Amino acid sequence: MSAITVRKIRFPFDDAVRLDGDDEHLGTLLPVLGLSLTMPYLEPYLIRTMNAALQEITDPALAEDVRRFAQQEAHHYKNHALFNETVRARFDDATAARLRAIEAALDDDYQRFTRTKSLRFNVVYAEGFEAMTCAGALAGAAHGAFAPGSDVPGGELWAWHMAEEIEHRTVAFDVFEHLVGSYPYRLVGSVRAQWHYLSYVDRLAKEMARALGRRPARPRTPMHREMLRRYLQTFSPRYDPAAIELPPAVPALLARYAAMAELVR
Ligand SMILES: [Fe+2]
Ligand SMILES: [Fe+2]
Repeated sequence: MSAITVRKIRFPFDDAVRLDGDDEHLGTLLPVLGLSLTMPYLEPYLIRTMNAALQEITDPALAEDVRRFAQQEAHHYKNHALFNETVRARFDDATAARLRAIEAALDDDYQRFTRTKSLRFNVVYAEGFEAMTCAGALAGAAHGAFAPGSDVPGGELWAWHMAEEIEHRTVAFDVFEHLVGSYPYRLVGSVRAQWHYLSYVDRLAKEMARALGRRPARPRTPMHREMLRRYLQTFSPRYDPAAIELPPAVPALLARYAAMAELVR
């Protein structure tokens, strides 16, 4: 029996995206919006990778976790694709077209990775992304970033998505350990994947900042320090996402979205 629940939810994105606030606030917000813009390309790539991995996985419990991971990611990117329409609509047509061009370049990379790269490359990319995202999500949860009433554009999309990233945090790691299992390759492959991914988030954030005529500042809050600390811990040879103690907010969020979901299994 898998501990991962698939929650089919569609959030409404009726509100226009507001981008006010000081430079440090914008320094948090624009990368978050950039992250959202990557999701309809990154998450399908993770799903393609997991479907390929399923052909090689010999552990039935892990295979079931992988299927549920893929279903969760599919619901994530469908919501982000809807939200992203409102993000692009916040900008003029020329900026929206430039954002779409960066998105298309990322999609091209991911389609090429699926076509031409080894399963080992794609699995370590998935683990590098998942470990980094889970570290960020845990720090956010510990600092109340996903509390109801947050004014981050996209609203509860983030709390639901990040809670499920924490819920399925073991899957890509377990697939990597099952199929590859090399610590040096996890280090090198994760850093390479994170650099590739974050370079696109950075390009998207810079394009939005340019359009706004703003210079966002690097945020230096306690939450960001904890993100960095948790991220660095993922590079320990003893890193084990199953052993992470969850902030108390996480089970409550997972229960909230299970109750709101159209479909729970
Ligand atoms: Fe996701
Ligand atoms: Fe994920």
